[in-house]
Amino acid sequence: MTMKQIVLLPGDGVGPEVTAAAVLVLEKAAAPEGVEFSYREHAVGGCAIDRFGAAITEEALADCKAADAVLLGAVGGPKWDDPTAPVRPEQGLLRLRKELGVFANLRPVKVHPRLVGASPLRPEKLNGVDMVVVRELTGGLYFGQPKGREVREQGHWAVDTMEYHEYEIRRIAEMAFRLAQGRRGRVTSVDKANVLETSRLWRQTVVDVQRGFPDVTLEHMLVDTAAMRLVTTPASFDVMVTENMFGDILTDEASVLVGSMGLLPSASLGAGGPGLYEPIHGSAPDIAGKGIANPVGTILSAALMLRHSLDLPAAAQRIETAVSNALDAGNLTMDLGGSLSTKAMTAVILSHME
Ligand code: IPM
Ligand code: MG
Repeated sequence: MTMKQIVLLPGDGVGPEVTAAAVLVLEKAAAPEGVEFSYREHAVGGCAIDRFGAAITEEALADCKAADAVLLGAVGGPKWDDPTAPVRPEQGLLRLRKELGVFANLRPVKVHPRLVGASPLRPEKLNGVDMVVVRELTGGLYFGQPKGREVREQGHWAVDTMEYHEYEIRRIAEMAFRLAQGRRGRVTSVDKANVLETSRLWRQTVVDVQRGFPDVTLEHMLVDTAAMRLVTTPASFDVMVTENMFGDILTDEASVLVGSMGLLPSASLGAGGPGLYEPIHGSAPDIAGKGIANPVGTILSAALMLRHSLDLPAAAQRIETAVSNALDAGNLTMDLGGSLSTKAMTAVILSHME
């Protein structure tokens, strides 16, 4: 029996509900594989601020670094939203991403045929939508120095710094091209090269990386155009690679294609080391504690964990097939116009794994 170490970071809002659901499915999927998981759980985000005064503790970080993989729910909520607060829940997540070195955030966006009606877009636009957004995760505006807070105290002024090194762009571009090789062979690099210096470095570097991948087609797209094309011709995208904040914004937009934010998983990977897995949705404070959150985004994140960090692709596939079959059979949570609770939806997915 192989033993794998998983750190659970349920976090705030609906985080604990969807994480618990994903663990049940993870266990069931891995059972036939002769693998056992041992879990450690830590607070992250607002709940960690309440308990420890910090959005993540050193102990939690150390456990995450020593684990095979980390599964996170969500962080944040109105309780910790005071703009003058010295510490914010999101800092725990950002520090974790940085310290794990998970520079590549993969966000697959695939429209399930049964759910074309759940999107406000016309069904004919949604046919064949199957893309992966590769979001740079440890650079750009989220991490550039100086930051506004340090200087804002002195007056009515704030600053955030967009910063990229060539090596940061190179490694994320390589990830995108490798991914495209196993898919439809097409990379769209999204930037704002008509305005930003970082984007010009981005474009130049991506062009250079493409020389090593002659079998992959590269197109460049300005981020404003990309925002439009995502809703006018979404099926034309295969792999989209972009910097941190553009990727954050565009993946929320892309979630509209699939019908609900609650469906989308993500995998954050670095150069070896544990991966970090989380749904792309937030803590959804409005429905937290009601037992109605859609667990699918986190369940599919657990599938990505099985595939990318735990080397159990068959178990990953079992989850993905079960989710797809459950949706096919019309099992829907509230966000998709259905009436199933988190637990009921999870039970249906588990039953499809029998
Ligand atoms: C996401 C979230 C986070 C981000 C927040 C919670 C800091 O929006 O994972 O997309 O901006 O990266
Ligand atoms: Mg986001």
